[in-house]
Formats: sequence, structure tokens, C-alpha cells
Amino acid sequence: MEHSAAETSAPTARTGAAETVMVELGDRRYPVHVGPALLARAGELVRPLLARPHTAVVTDETVAALHLERLQASLAATGISAEVIIVPPGEQSKSFAALERVCDSLLGAAIERRDHVIALGGGVIGDLVGFAAAILRRGVRFIQVPTTLLAQVDSSVGGKTGINVRHGKNLIGAFHQPDMVLADTSLLDTLPTREFRAGYAEVVKYGLLGDAAFFRWLDAHHEAIAAQDGPERWQAVATCCRAKAAIVAEDEFETGRRALLNLGHTFGHALEAATGYSSRLIHGEAVAIGMALAFRFSERLGLCSPGTATEVIRHLAAVGLPTTLGQIDGSLPDAKGLVAFMRQDKKAVAGKLTFILVRGIGEAFVSRDVDDAAVEAFLAEELAAR
Ligand code: NAD
Ligand code: GLY
Repeated sequence: MEHSAAETSAPTARTGAAETVMVELGDRRYPVHVGPALLARAGELVRPLLARPHTAVVTDETVAALHLERLQASLAATGISAEVIIVPPGEQSKSFAALERVCDSLLGAAIERRDHVIALGGGVIGDLVGFAAAILRRGVRFIQVPTTLLAQVDSSVGGKTGINVRHGKNLIGAFHQPDMVLADTSLLDTLPTREFRAGYAEVVKYGLLGDAAFFRWLDAHHEAIAAQDGPERWQAVATCCRAKAAIVAEDEFETGRRALLNLGHTFGHALEAATGYSSRLIHGEAVAIGMALAFRFSERLGLCSPGTATEVIRHLAAVGLPTTLGQIDGSLPDAKGLVAFMRQDKKAVAGKLTFILVRGIGEAFVSRDVDDAAVEAFLAEELAAR
């Protein structure tokens, strides 16, 4: 990571409450605006990007009830007409059926190639709408207005879009960068606690993968981040966006370093698949357990010093996140079954699993030579401890 401890803990006050992080991708570079009450400025920020004052907003029913009106009012105040498309909330909307409906509605709304589509919602909406934008008329422009913590710090930045199929999560998709991300941290005030915590798993991920100072800062400030829309929250979201922007600028198509962002995800995705992508285990919770497993597994392989995993697990537990397979309700497949789910991982090469392992907090690395038998034995022990 580029930022130092001093930078991560510096107040954002120098730019007012809002901060803009640039994702440096040459002529496709785009801003990520982070701060409170930005939805009210959406029209003003979006208008200069539009080829004509016409757009479509895609959102889910829950977010529509809470935040759509203010977005519409802001767009209308700058003369932008917006068709609205609303899908059911939840992971089930990352499906071919929902994609077909959204594409059909966007064509019905006369969205042309130079037009922008606005994704207002969590990671499900961002991934679904981003993918629809990638394939509609061979590619239309889009803007992310992330409304969950997870989406603000991870999924809305970097251009990964896609849907789930029966073989696994995100297996059908495209890289398609947005033209702007508008991360209004005030929107997080309406998030259910469970969703906020799940998003926090992705926040702490940035500390664990490459920024030990950020991890220590989070350890001191996680209660303030959760409690209110204040400087600690803005700073946490902006720090994550800076970290992600730097990685994406370096490795847009995940040929190397970007894979680090998947810390905890190889285990996590298998657990999500094994629990049917249901409310038994939501994405961020699966990532939290996955990160705890990645640290325990790294310790087991002798890669990091004993006690490191305990420190990570203590922090995740203090936030209220699960860290063990025992905290997942209901039955799970055996270790072989879990490894079979891992094989569907997009990062698998010639059937070999890719793991993000750690040498310590803030010292993650990509490993492509992990022995399957060692993973299976480790998972068998973790399952036996349930
Ligand atoms: P989500 O979009 O399903 O949102 C979670 C729930 O919160 C939904 O019910 C939603 O309606 C509700 N909600 C959203 N904003 C709200 C608000 N402000 N107030 C109250 N309720 C609100 O889930 P998520 O956790 O945001 O995203 C998970 C998805 O993101 C997964 O599909 C995952 O694969 C994907 N993801 C993608 C990337 C990427 O790089 N593209 C990265 C990480 C995760
Ligand atoms: N969420 C992982 C990535 O964007 O690469």
C-alpha cells in the first residue's frame, strides 16, 4: 500500500468532509467521491459526464424506499430525466433472469451507447447493473452510487461486474469500469447492523492484506466507524478506496497483485456456495471466516508467527463478525466437498487453487502452490472443531 500510518490516520478535514480518490486508468481514469450527504450533490456531479440529460437509475426495492427519492430530486434539479428500474433485493438478483429484465428495461428506456446508467445500491446492484452496462449495445457507460459499506469500500471501485450461476458466484461477468463512484457515507446510517458488519470485513481486509498501520488504526476506531457518520467513517472508507484504486491502477485485469484483494475469499466463496448464497451466511461474513481461516492456515504452514491469527480473530470478533465454521448454522459439506467448491474459483489455474496467504498482518501474498491435501486436512480439522 502506498499510504503510511501517518497518512491513514490524518483527518480528512483538509478537503472538507468529502474526499476524491482517483482511479488512474489513463483515459478511463475516474473519480471516487467519498463523504457525507453526497447524494444531494448527485445531479451536479453527474451532469458534466452525460452526453444528454437522460439516464436510468437501477436500484433494489429496499434502497428505492429509503434513498431513491433524494437521488431523483437531485438529478431533476439539474434537468436530468431518469427512468427508474427496480429489482428485488438480495443475491438472487445477480441472475440471468434479473439481467434479462434489466437489459430489457434499459432498452425500453432508450438508453443509448453514450448514455449513463446509474447503479444505486449495494454490491448486488453494482455487479448486476455494471454487467448489464458492459453488454448493452456492446457497452454503455455507468455510474456507481454504492449504498452499503461493502460496496463503498470494494465492489463499486475497480470494474468487476457479473452474476452468479449454479456453478458458483460471479462466474459470468466482465471488467467494465464506471465513469464515477459516488460514495455517500450518510447512506450507511440506514444499513442493518448485520450488513454494516459484513461490509466491515472488507474494510479490515485492506489492513490485513497490506497495511498493518491501518489495521491498528481500525482496532482503535472501529466503534466510532460503526456508531455514526463522522470523520472516522469517512476516513476509513476513503483509505480503503485509495488502497483499492492503487491496486486496480496497477493490475486492472488481475494478472498479479489485484488477487490480494481476495484475501479470505477462496475459503469464503466456498462457504457461500455451500450455504446456497443464503441469509445463513452473507458475503462479508463468509469473508470474515475466510480471513480467519487464511491466517490460521498460514500459521499452520509456518508462514507467520504463532499468535498472529489470534490477534486478527480477536479484532473480527470484537466487531461482531464470525470467525469459525462453528458459527455457521446448519450442515456443511465435508472437507472434500468444500475443496470441490473452491475449484470453481475464477483464480484456479489448470485446476490448481490460488490462495492468498500471509506472513503477518499487512503482509499478504499470492500462492499458487498450496497442496490440496494440506487444505483438505486443515478444513477437516476446522470442521471437526464445530
Ligand atoms: P447487497 O447489495 O445485497 O446489499 C445488502 C442488503 O442491504 C440488501 O438487502 C440491500 O437491499 C440492502 N441495502 C443496501 N443499501 C442499503 C442502505 N443504505 N440501507 C438499508 N439497506 C440497504 O449486498 P452487498 O453486501 O452490498 O454486496 C454483496 C455483493 O457484492 C455480492 O454479490 C458480492 O459477490 C459482490 N462483490 C463484488 C465485488 C466486486 O469487485 N465487484 C467485490 C466484493 C463483493
Ligand atoms: N473485490 C476484488 C476485486 O475487485 O478485485
